[in-house]
Amino acid sequence: MQDTSPSRILVVDDEASCRETLEALLSGYGYDLAFATSGTACLASARERLPDLILLDVMMPDMDGFETCARLRREPETAEVPVIMVTALDDRQSKLQGLGAGADDFVAKPFDATELRARIRTIVRLNRFRRIHTEHARFQLLFENSPDGIALLDHDGRICLANPSLVKLVGREVIDTDFSLLLTEEHRGPWRQALAAVCGARGEMAPTEMAVRSETGTVLPIEVSVVRQTAMVDVGAQVIVRDITWRKRLEAQLFQAQKLELLGHMAGGIAHDFRNVLTVVGMHAELVINGLSSGDALRQDAEVISRMADRATGLCHRLLAFSRRQELKLRPMELNETIRAGMEILGPTLGRRIRVSLDLKDDPLVVEADPTQLQQVFLNLAVNARDVMPVSGEFSIATERVQSWAASPVAPGLAPGSYALTTVSDTGCGMDEETRKRIFEPFFTTKPEGKGTGLGMSVVYGIVTQMGGHIDVESAPGEGATFRVFLPLHC
Ligand SMILES: Nc1ncnc2c1ncn2[C@@H]1O[C@H](COP(=O)(O)OP(=O)(O)OP(=O)(O)O)[C@@H](O)[C@H]1O
Ligand SMILES: [Mg+2]
Repeated sequence: MQDTSPSRILVVDDEASCRETLEALLSGYGYDLAFATSGTACLASARERLPDLILLDVMMPDMDGFETCARLRREPETAEVPVIMVTALDDRQSKLQGLGAGADDFVAKPFDATELRARIRTIVRLNRFRRIHTEHARFQLLFENSPDGIALLDHDGRICLANPSLVKLVGREVIDTDFSLLLTEEHRGPWRQALAAVCGARGEMAPTEMAVRSETGTVLPIEVSVVRQTAMVDVGAQVIVRDITWRKRLEAQLFQAQKLELLGHMAGGIAHDFRNVLTVVGMHAELVINGLSSGDALRQDAEVISRMADRATGLCHRLLAFSRRQELKLRPMELNETIRAGMEILGPTLGRRIRVSLDLKDDPLVVEADPTQLQQVFLNLAVNARDVMPVSGEFSIATERVQSWAASPVAPGLAPGSYALTTVSDTGCGMDEETRKRIFEPFFTTKPEGKGTGLGMSVVYGIVTQMGGHIDVESAPGEGATFRVFLPLHC
């Protein structure tokens, strides 16, 4: 913003008559004049309110002009203030001393009024220009380094200035582009209406969710705010664009977590009571079996009841695992060793058609876990991988140590701390977004009737979460799947 306030000139002289002369000489020329009667008073006044120029007398009793000027230059706030030394000594030596102390110019008494005013005008103008330049450099720094996209639009909604964040967000040059064309089709109409309202009576638009399509075709959620601009003739509005991909992910993650929490409560409650009922059913079936001879037809019926009660109890156990209500036997264990040992079971499960690759770090990763349950996690992941790679493929497990920070968690919703990250991936058919979102829900399956219960991933979710960890999945149709299992490191 342009500074239109009058330039402030600080006149420093111990003699009242000299101060009066300079006042008479400069009054009426649009300057804001301030006075100091000593070097010390000059430093205090300049510190309190920075002048645009100091007219500094050389001969003063407590601190002469050379010393005052040198001190002004030493203090960061006053180092750049232009100083004209005013003196009766019109000798070369004094001029050199004054310039050496940091003065910008030198005038000798008695003054030539026209010349003095001309010098003052030039120095003040140059100083203003320098200040504008410094301010501009500062704003430029903010503009260039802002993580948000910033743009100025002309009166037709075209971008006339854009910062690097906006260019990076959309992945191409945007100058002269109609801003609406950066947005996805459904947002273009509403945007044009909103911009017209902002440029009309409304004046501004509060942050509003929209979406941009980047050069690569990716749709990114953004939050756009607009303010009308009237300071520059060729600028109509200023736009701030914030990439909210991360926030949206967090919201979705939170929503999923809340949904699973609720399902967990319901499923856990039912499974718990139902398991008790099944225990009684199973016990009585056993009593009936024991009371009947082996050839009795009723005995076979009772055996079916007993088997079904066992199977239903197994189902209840899996639901209890999902709802984090099973008893875990936690103990510190080294993750890489557990995975290596687990390969004895996983290898045969995956069969010969699937290549297994392990990338386990030498660095020991001690986690607090229940070994049997952890084997169950990897087994369920491996079984699913096998099912999506019926002909051939690759199943990989990699481990590493990661640190999650409060300000930038490595996974949305992951509490700050040190974790062992196990990345389990396959090169199978992958999954669509709908499946990815629902994968941890109990009884969610895409397998044909009778082939899957849809409890495998729910059990994995329950076990990992109950151990204080976190699991998520990245996948797209035809691109395999990558599961990330975070387990808190034992310290
Ligand atoms: N590695 C994977 N690649 C692609 N889709 C997967 C993968 N793992 C799981 N899924 C999808 O998630 C669904 C749920 O998996 P989950 O293990 O919970 O149940 P299921 O395998 O269908 O049945 P169950 O494990 O009870 O036998 C699967 O039906 C499948 O659609
Ligand atoms: Mg499964």
